[in-house]
Amino acid sequence: MTLIDQISALRSEIEHEIPTIDSADAAERFRLKHLVKKGTIQSCVEGLRMVPREEKPLVGKALNELRALAEGAFAHAQEQFGKRSSTPHLDLTLPPRGQRRGAVHPITQTVDKLVSIFSSMGFEVAEGPDVEDDTHNFGKLNFAADHPARDMQDTFFIDDEARADLLLRTHTSSVQVRVMENMKPPIRCIMPGRVYRNEAVSARSLAEFHQIEGLYIDKGVSMADLKGTIMAFARRFYDENAEFRFRTSYFPFTEPSCEIDMSCFLCKGDGCRICKHSGWLEICGAGMVHPNVLSACGIDPNEYSGFAFGFGVERVVLMLTGIDDIRLLYDNDIRVLSQF
Ligand code: DAH
Repeated sequence: MTLIDQISALRSEIEHEIPTIDSADAAERFRLKHLVKKGTIQSCVEGLRMVPREEKPLVGKALNELRALAEGAFAHAQEQFGKRSSTPHLDLTLPPRGQRRGAVHPITQTVDKLVSIFSSMGFEVAEGPDVEDDTHNFGKLNFAADHPARDMQDTFFIDDEARADLLLRTHTSSVQVRVMENMKPPIRCIMPGRVYRNEAVSARSLAEFHQIEGLYIDKGVSMADLKGTIMAFARRFYDENAEFRFRTSYFPFTEPSCEIDMSCFLCKGDGCRICKHSGWLEICGAGMVHPNVLSACGIDPNEYSGFAFGFGVERVVLMLTGIDDIRLLYDNDIRVLSQF
């Protein structure tokens, strides 16, 4: 087909279309089809290059007339129907996208739950500073001056020439000291908080994590009170039929000291992934507050005794959720967090 034939075919197509333009949208469709750079008319203009020289005036004239016709029809339609509205078409029947709801982080959820159980048992919440001094983090907790926990490898020290004893607390036991310094027995406190250790970050450990500390000081408090409290707590929090195991251990600030294990709430002791096939889960470190600690904090060890315990919150979250990489709790990946 020669260009002149193409133009006349296009002309009859356009003449045919013009009476069908009955809205602003139809006018816009007409413009997009014929009057834009990639439209039908412009593509004929491009074909003009191939037309023999002597035919060019004729073909050019036909094209100009066609363009004038199309432009005139479009302008007329615009006058008639107005410009196409710039508001996008609103389809009220589309299903809504829904709102994503935020949620409390699993670590905070766990702390809240632990605190609420201990509160119901008569413990009140106490807090202390993250930036501590050596005395509260170590000294008054009966750590010897050369105890390896004071080592650079475990403790982040604060770079402050005026206060060489400042550090980021390595455990929430520092809050015990502050509580005992400031309160008179009977003392029943639970102390949640963030702690810091100079450790390599891995699937099992972080340099910054959470602990909960418990402290009970009164006249005549014994190891039996410690056992009863921890067992009552764990039966409410984990598994009402849990069995327990108290293993002797060592902490400078308690004497005697123990670590408390509970039968695995998932496999009931048969062995599974959560308990690493041992049947037991470690719940916390604990013990009777060392008399040296009581005296250092202004409490007479001949009159009062007490117990303390402490555990890591992230470990509890891992046990309960089955997450096997502790770093997932800090990545803030919504796909992980939205599951809790
Ligand atoms: N402070 C200990 C730690 O960071 C945990 C702990 C153990 C706290 C025994 C206690 C306790 O109060 O009695 O590993």
